[in-house]
Amino acid sequence: MGLKLVATAAALIASTVSAQSSYGSAASTLSNGGSSLTLLYQNNLNASDDVNHIGAILLDSMTSTAGATACAAIGETLLTQAAIKNHTSDFANSLAYLQYNGQVSPNQRFFIKNGIVSVSQHTNTLSFPAKPNGNTKLPILCTQSSTQNGGTNAVATASNEITIASGKNNFVGFRNLKSFRFAGIPYANPVARFEYSTVYSKTGQTIQATAQGADCAQAYDAASMENCLFLNIQTPYIPKSGSKKGLKPVLFSIHGGGFTGGNGGAGSGQDGGNLASREDIVSVEINYRLSTLGFLAIPGTDIKGNFGIGDQITALKWVKANIAAFGGDPNHVTIIGESAGAGSVRALLGSPPVIENNLIVGAVAQSNLGGGVTLGLSGDYGTTYSSYLTVAQSYAQAGQQIFEAAGCNQTALADQITCLKAVPALTLVNLPTVARYVVQDGTIVNTEQLDVTNKNGSTADVNVIFGTTANDGASFSTYPKTAVTTEVQGIQAALGISAAYAQAIIDSGLFPLYNTGNITLDSFNVSQRVATDKTFRCIDEATIYAGATSGAFRSAYYYTITRTYQGYDPNNLGASGLSQGPVSPAYPNGNPELPYFRLHGSDLGFTYGNQNPLRDGLDLKASQLISGYYAQFAKTGNPNPSLQYLQTRGYTNTTQGVKQSGPWQAVNSKTGPTKNLDWPAPTVSFPDTQQCTFLNYTLEYYFNGGA
Ligand SMILES: *[C@@H]1O[C@H](CO)[C@@H](O)[C@H](O)[C@H]1NC(C)=O
Ligand SMILES: *[C@@H]1O[C@H](CO)[C@@H](O)[C@H](O)[C@H]1NC(C)=O
Ligand SMILES: *[C@@H]1O[C@H](CO)[C@@H](O)[C@H](O)[C@H]1NC(C)=O
Ligand SMILES: *[C@@H]1O[C@H](CO)[C@@H](O)[C@H](O)[C@H]1NC(C)=O
Ligand SMILES: *[C@@H]1O[C@H](CO)[C@@H](O)[C@H](O)[C@H]1NC(C)=O
Ligand SMILES: *[C@@H]1O[C@H](CO)[C@@H](O)[C@H](O)[C@H]1NC(C)=O
Ligand SMILES: *[C@@H]1O[C@H](CO)[C@@H](O)[C@H](O)[C@H]1NC(C)=O
Ligand SMILES: *[C@@H]1O[C@H](CO)[C@@H](O)[C@H](O)[C@H]1NC(C)=O
Repeated sequence: MGLKLVATAAALIASTVSAQSSYGSAASTLSNGGSSLTLLYQNNLNASDDVNHIGAILLDSMTSTAGATACAAIGETLLTQAAIKNHTSDFANSLAYLQYNGQVSPNQRFFIKNGIVSVSQHTNTLSFPAKPNGNTKLPILCTQSSTQNGGTNAVATASNEITIASGKNNFVGFRNLKSFRFAGIPYANPVARFEYSTVYSKTGQTIQATAQGADCAQAYDAASMENCLFLNIQTPYIPKSGSKKGLKPVLFSIHGGGFTGGNGGAGSGQDGGNLASREDIVSVEINYRLSTLGFLAIPGTDIKGNFGIGDQITALKWVKANIAAFGGDPNHVTIIGESAGAGSVRALLGSPPVIENNLIVGAVAQSNLGGGVTLGLSGDYGTTYSSYLTVAQSYAQAGQQIFEAAGCNQTALADQITCLKAVPALTLVNLPTVARYVVQDGTIVNTEQLDVTNKNGSTADVNVIFGTTANDGASFSTYPKTAVTTEVQGIQAALGISAAYAQAIIDSGLFPLYNTGNITLDSFNVSQRVATDKTFRCIDEATIYAGATSGAFRSAYYYTITRTYQGYDPNNLGASGLSQGPVSPAYPNGNPELPYFRLHGSDLGFTYGNQNPLRDGLDLKASQLISGYYAQFAKTGNPNPSLQYLQTRGYTNTTQGVKQSGPWQAVNSKTGPTKNLDWPAPTVSFPDTQQCTFLNYTLEYYFNGGA
C-alpha cells in the first residue's frame, strides 16, 4: 500500500495561505474544531470479551442542544441512559477515571440523551439526576459506534473517519473501539538513496492517514518499497484544534528484525490501540530504512551509514513537532524496541542529536543483543548490536561484496556508487550480502559503545528498562536435526563449539542438565541457557548494573519475562508445543503452566496488552499487569502503578497482582533487584551472574574497560 497524499482543492491551499491560525484548514471542517475528543473504553485486554462492551466519546462542555449537534457532526448521537445502564461498571470506572486524571471536576455531571449522568468520586457509582435548564453547559457523552476491536481489523469508513490539523496540514484518520488511529503518515521528505532523511516539511496537504504505508524494502517482502518512511499513531484523545491541554505521555516503538526486516504496522505486535484505551497513553510506531538501504557505510565518502537510525531520529523530531495535535506530550516521549529495535534504543541513548534535541525522557530495550568472544568462538552474532563497527570494519564485511553481487564492478569507487544507486531496491536487499550494522559514523553514533560508566558521560540522562525473555537464546541455538546420544554432542551441535568447550560447560556445574529423559531436548535446554547468557543476558545485566550504579542512567530497571507466546522460532520448536506449552483439548493454544521456551520476540503480546489467544486466566492477568508496568514507566519513568489509579480504573486483577508482586525496584547493587515478569511478578536477583562470569562477561564488564 503506497502513500496516499490527496491533493486537495486549490481552495484549501488558498485558505491555508490566508488563514490566521497555524492550521491547514478552517476549524469548522475539522472533527476537533469545536471540542476535544476523548475516546472512552473500559478495556480489559480480553479481545474475545469486546463484544460485551461499548465505549463512548466525550466532548467538552456545551449545552445539550449543541452537544446533540456535535455528536451528529462525528457521526454519532448522544449516549442513552439505557446503554449506560447496560454497562454500568464500565461507565462508572471510565467516568471516575476522568475525575481522577483531572480532565473533569469531582462529581462531574455529563449530558446524555434526554438527561444527565453523574458519577460519585468516592464510590464510583452512577446516578441520573434531573436535566437542568437549557443554558447549562456540561461535558457531552456521545455514542461510539465503530466496533472494530483490533489493529489489523481496523478499517476506515465514511462514518468513523476524523480529520484533524497539525503543522499546516490536515490528517484524516479514523477510530475503532479502542483508539483514534492514524496510519501511514509520511514523517520525512522524499529522501535520495544513501542520504539522511529530514522531517516532512510540505504544508497545505491533506494526508489520508487511514491505511498503513509500505514496509521498507526487505527480503521476503515483495510489496516492500524504498519510499517507506511512515509512522502510525493510536491515541485516546484529540485536543481541541489549537489547544495543548491535557496531553498524554507518548510511547514510541521501534520494531525488530535484524536491521534487515520488520515494520511498524498493526501486525508487528507493537500496535498501541490497547495501551491507548487501557492506559491512556499515545502510541507511535515507525518504519525505518533497512538492510543496505539503511546501513551501507563506505569509508572516505559521504555515505557514512546509519541511515536507518537517522530515520528513527527524524521520526522522533516529527513527533516532537506534531504529536501535540494528536494528544501526545512532545516533551514526554519514551522509546521502546525489541531485538534490533532494542539495539536501536541503545544506539539512540548515546546519540548526540537525540540528547541535544531533548527528544526522549525514557527508554526500554527488550532483548538487546551483544556479547563477545567466548567458548572458543571467533565472535558472537550479537556483538555488533552493542559494540559498533567502524565504517571501515563495516565496509570490510558489507562493501565490495555488495558492489560485486550487484554487478557494480567498475574500477573507480565513484562509478561503483553511481551504479549501486541505480540498482532496484528489492534487488539490493535480496543480495547474498547486505549492510546491517550500526556504525561509528561520527554524528549519529560517535562512540564504540554506550558509555555507562560515567554520570557525566555521553549517555542520555533518562530512566531505562532493559531485560530479556527467559530463553532468548533458544532462538539463536540450533536444535539438532537428528537425535543426539550425549550431552556433549547436543551442546556442540546447538552452539557450534568444540567438544572441549562443551565439556567445559558441563564441568562448570553452572548449567545443570534438566533431565526429562530426552537427551536431545535436554542438551538443547542447556545450550539455550548458554546462548541466552552469552548473547543477551550478560551484556544487558552488565549495562544496567553499570548505568545504574554509576548514575549514567537516571534510574534503571531490569526484568526477565517468563510468560510468553510463540516468537522467533527458526528451529520450529512450536511444532512440539515448545514455544507456548503443550497443546491438548483443554489447552488448544498450549498450556503455559507446563515447560516451554520463552523465545526471542515472544513477549510483545504481553508488553502491549495484545496477547491473543489467551491460553488461560493467568495469561490475561499477566497481560494486564505487564502492559501496565510498561505504560506506567512511559508515564512517570517508574514502572509501578499506584493502587489508587488501579482501583479508580477498576483494574482489580492488576491491583491484586501489584500487591502480590511487591514493588519493581530500580537496580542498585550486584544483586539487582530485578523482576520476573509474569502473574504475579516476583522480585529476584540478577539471574546467571556466575554463569556470565564463566562466559567471561562479568557484571563489572564495563567498569573493567570492557573485559
Ligand atoms: C475472555 O472473554 C470471553 C468472553 O466473555 C470469556 O469467555 C473468556 O473466559 C475470557 N477469557 C479470560 C481469560 O478471562
Ligand atoms: C441493553 O441490553 C439488553 C439485553 O442485552 C438489550 O436487549 C438492549 O438492546 C440493550 N440496550 C441498549 C440501549 O444497549
Ligand atoms: C575465559 O577467558 C580465559 C582467559 O582468556 C580463557 O582461558 C577461557 O577459555 C575463557 N572462557 C570461555 C568460556 O571462553
Ligand atoms: C565482478 O568482478 C568479479 C571479479 O573481480 C567477477 O568474479 C564477477 O563475475 C564480476 N561480476 C560481474 C557481474 O561482472
Ligand atoms: C557532572 O556535571 C555537573 C554539572 O554539569 C557537575 O555539577 C557535577 O559535579 C559533575 N559530576 C561529575 C561526577 O563529574
Ligand atoms: C525429544 O523432544 C523433542 C521435542 O519435544 C521431540 O521432537 C522428540 O521426539 C523427543 N525425542 C524423544 C526420543 O522422545
Ligand atoms: C529447561 O530446564 C529448566 C531448568 O534449567 C526447566 O525448568 C525447564 O522446564 C526446562 N525446559 C524444558 C522445555 O524442558
Ligand atoms: C481478571 O482475570 C480473570 C482471568 O483470570 C478474568 O476472568 C477477569 O475478567 C479479569 N478481571 C478484570 C477486571 O479484568
